[in-house]
Amino acid sequence: MGFFFTLLRSQLFTKLPYPTWSFEGQTVVITGSNTGLGLEAARHIVRLGAGKVILAVRTISKGEKAAENIIESTHATKSVLEVWPLDLSDYESIKAFGTRLQTLDRLDALIQNAGVLTDHYKLEKESGLESHIAINSVSAVLIGLLALPKLKETAHKTGTRTRLSFVGSDLHFIAACKEAEHDGSLFDVLSDEKIANMSDRYRVSKLLLHYSVQELAARSPLDSGDDVIIDDVTPGACDSDLFRDEIGWLRSIIQPMIVKIFARTTEVGSRALVHGVRPQLEPEAHGRFLMDCKVVPDQRMGPEPAETVD
Ligand SMILES: NC(=O)c1ccc[n+]([C@@H]2O[C@H](COP(=O)([O-])OP(=O)(O)OC[C@H]3O[C@@H](n4cnc5c(N)ncnc54)[C@H](OP(=O)(O)O)[C@@H]3O)[C@@H](O)[C@H]2O)c1
Repeated sequence: MGFFFTLLRSQLFTKLPYPTWSFEGQTVVITGSNTGLGLEAARHIVRLGAGKVILAVRTISKGEKAAENIIESTHATKSVLEVWPLDLSDYESIKAFGTRLQTLDRLDALIQNAGVLTDHYKLEKESGLESHIAINSVSAVLIGLLALPKLKETAHKTGTRTRLSFVGSDLHFIAACKEAEHDGSLFDVLSDEKIANMSDRYRVSKLLLHYSVQELAARSPLDSGDDVIIDDVTPGACDSDLFRDEIGWLRSIIQPMIVKIFARTTEVGSRALVHGVRPQLEPEAHGRFLMDCKVVPDQRMGPEPAETVD
């Protein structure tokens, strides 16, 4: 009950702050930024003066179209934007992306935003994992691990805290993960089509992501001179292309109405993504979940909102 009350209050009554933090001279990478929340976050960060914004996308032509769109709306110089290939279903692509990250002069922030949501079971052939687990959890963490050395190097060089942000979801609070009751490794049972609960799977993938963010943060403590703040951010429910499945006629009538009433636009939701990597991000965000641009006090959905990080 507490979860739904908090969610309603967040969606209907909470205003996310319009980003005004300067990213002047900074280099920021955003995955899955050809559309939706990633595209809008990139637009804000370009507008806020970043020196370089890299759109990491799985289809280069879509990334180039997004870059043109950002240039048109912000009037930024073309050279600010770069489009790099990245397919989170393909380990070779992930490795090549990681190698290319090391060629950057600096990396101030990375937003691991790319993700999927579907009701259909799909096995990723290369990893042998179900696609939500492969993309939203495992590959997301791999991207983070590959970015960490460059983020640490930049923090050390510039004497500032760099930021590694993962786009999670508040739905992780209500993941049931009944598959975990089966014997065997969690990855094996989650990849077994016969027992997969696809209506819970997206939530489970974001729960695994959240645990991974906590672990990454614990292994990378702050105050070491090369500090990277690692966080897990939700934009709230937004009207994007995330759910791309075919839906029946009844749902096709009801769903748009619910979206209209409750969902944020991707521009509004993207403010949370920008907030999660802003240069002044407080160290309290390290290893934590941020909702409505605030650190959630503990791992449950508490009744009271946390103190603002601003
Ligand atoms: N929308 C919401 O209500 C909501 C709420 C909470 C959290 N989120 C999270 O926000 C993030 C962005 O979602 P969105 O709402 O903006 O959805 P979206 O419009 O569907 O954008 C998803 C992005 O991820 C990319 N992507 C998907 N699979 C990929 C892969 N295997 N390799 C590389 N890129 C891949 C997509 O690329 P293509 O265009 O090429 O497919 C697209 O750029 C996701 O992590 C999502 O879970 C969304």
